[in-house]
Amino acid sequence: MLELQNLSRHFGGVKAVDQLDLDVVQGEILGLIGPNGSGKSTTVNLITGVYQPTNGALRFKGQDIADLAPHQRTELGIARTFQNIRLFGHLTVWQNLWAARVVRERGWSGFRERWLSGAKAAREQAEELLVFGDLAHKRDHLAGNLAFGEQRRLELIRAAASGAELLLLDEPAAGMNAEEILDLDQRIRRLRDQGRTILLIEHHMELVMEVCDRVVVLNFGRKIAQGTPAQVQRDEAVRAAYLGADHHA
Ligand SMILES: Nc1ncnc2c1ncn2[C@@H]1O[C@H](COP(=O)(O)OP(=O)(O)OP(=O)(O)O)[C@@H](O)[C@H]1O
Ligand SMILES: [Mg+2]
Repeated sequence: MLELQNLSRHFGGVKAVDQLDLDVVQGEILGLIGPNGSGKSTTVNLITGVYQPTNGALRFKGQDIADLAPHQRTELGIARTFQNIRLFGHLTVWQNLWAARVVRERGWSGFRERWLSGAKAAREQAEELLVFGDLAHKRDHLAGNLAFGEQRRLELIRAAASGAELLLLDEPAAGMNAEEILDLDQRIRRLRDQGRTILLIEHHMELVMEVCDRVVVLNFGRKIAQGTPAQVQRDEAVRAAYLGADHHA
């Protein structure tokens, strides 16, 4: 579904992502892990068009997307959540969801008309997502006033509300307690069961090992291992990378 070929992004001397080959297969939950600064968020930023690659190719459903603007990639069916939550804090829960839905359909042009006229089916889908995210009772609350775990849930359903087939989740469990992580585990599985494909970046290894079909491991921007969760857990290079990171910390 998504193919990265020999993809690099360098910032001056820092090789944030370096010669990365990565395939995301339709219908899978692919984990992307690695120590701090190993290039995970940069990879998401390259896929979504926040950054241009220094080198390499990016294809989504067979189409070269390297020259497309971020909103065009959203229209094609790629959505993300942010490592540091980025909601419209002064808008309500519902408005955050609806904005994602409306912008999906041809970016910001004519946004106001589409906001007001949105089709019934689209509204129903957004309502379903509110329930899915356990936020129906908070629909008219300002996003900025939600508890942390609720904001993370809103980010997740907002990404889904765009109708995207590929969801890029950048540390969705960061700051969550154990119970919230279990809920997230269930939600990620259900999104996949509804036909979405998921790239999951996470530091919570229990979640990665539980929920991912496959895992790719980065270190210093390079892919150092890939395989089933059990395989990468046993991998010597992976262990060394995480131990090295512990030494730094
Ligand atoms: N805009 C930028 N300008 C300069 N350097 C950057 C920029 N973005 C990322 N980097 C550097 O690229 C490297 C990879 O960063 P990235 O944020 O992708 O790591 P990460 O794997 O997401 O880390 P974390 O687990 O801490 O979120 C780091 O050395 C980082 O400092
Ligand atoms: Mg990151």
